Amino acid sequence: MATSGSGGTDGDDASIGTAVALENVRKTYQLGEPVHALDGVSLEIPRGSYTAIMGPSGSGKSTLMNLVGCLDTPTEGTVVVDGEDVAALTDRERTTLRGTTVGFVFQTFNLMPRLTALENVALPQLFQDVDRGTRRERARDLLERVGLADRADHLPNELSGGQRQRVALARALVNDPALVLADEPSGNLDTETEADILDLFAEFHDAGTTMIVVTHERHVAERAERIVHLLDGTLERIEELDGSDEGASRPAGEGSRSIGGGASPSDAADGDDGASS
Ligand SMILES: Nc1ncnc2c1ncn2[C@@H]1O[C@H](COP(=O)(O)OP(=O)(O)OP(=O)(O)O)[C@@H](O)[C@H]1O
Ligand SMILES: [Mg+2]
Repeated sequence: MATSGSGGTDGDDASIGTAVALENVRKTYQLGEPVHALDGVSLEIPRGSYTAIMGPSGSGKSTLMNLVGCLDTPTEGTVVVDGEDVAALTDRERTTLRGTTVGFVFQTFNLMPRLTALENVALPQLFQDVDRGTRRERARDLLERVGLADRADHLPNELSGGQRQRVALARALVNDPALVLADEPSGNLDTETEADILDLFAEFHDAGTTMIVVTHERHVAERAERIVHLLDGTLERIEELDGSDEGASRPAGEGSRSIGGGASPSDAADGDDGASS
């Protein structure tokens, strides 16, 4: 699909049906010997789809997520997110795109150590034009939904690993982002909590959010519509799943996207840069 539109971050151009497009993407790290973390990957992620990414350790999964999450730019090739060529944006534009469109759950959580759980979750909303009270209310709602209402005032080092992971999840979802990127989101969770989180993902997906989830667990991947298998920095194969409990077609537009009645991202404007994590 063409991605040559000139639209703004709302992507109202030829790329409307595509959330993410990678074309011949290479990422090479120069550490003495060059490391080809990604070695020519082309991939299209339709808007509103649910994709799992699997592959052995070191196959390039986190590298791919960092590129799609606008945290990094490719050595070669193009990464288009929401109609924007990420490498062509200024740092500020990239930060804004990330803050308004993407919810990122890092493999290493990246919580702010001096902020409480509630403050961590509320943080991304600095990009939204909503007041502090509304931000805290929305953050509290998300914390409740990941089962941490009673830990709102804890600092990250006063939380267990699985609880930190859930704070990171709540933070990624608090802006109701169009695109959720989750790198091993259930790695530290017990079975019951994992099931709750996967149900929450399904709920966001049902509301039209584009979901990309990295996992080593087959049963986690099987909640998606397709599994992208990476091997040594290349796309080994794409496995389409039946998705028996998921409708085959879902609204491509963003109008229906709203979870939990929180703030709508639709009129998020150019907030200050400071909120990036
Ligand atoms: N900043 C960096 N500098 C040099 N090499 C790197 C850097 N980041 C990643 N790599 C290398 O790139 C390759 C891909 O790393 P990546 O983190 O994407 O793997 P992964 O698939 O996420 O693995 P895991 O399942 O262990 O998280 C690895 O060989 C890694 O050592
Ligand atoms: Mg990784």
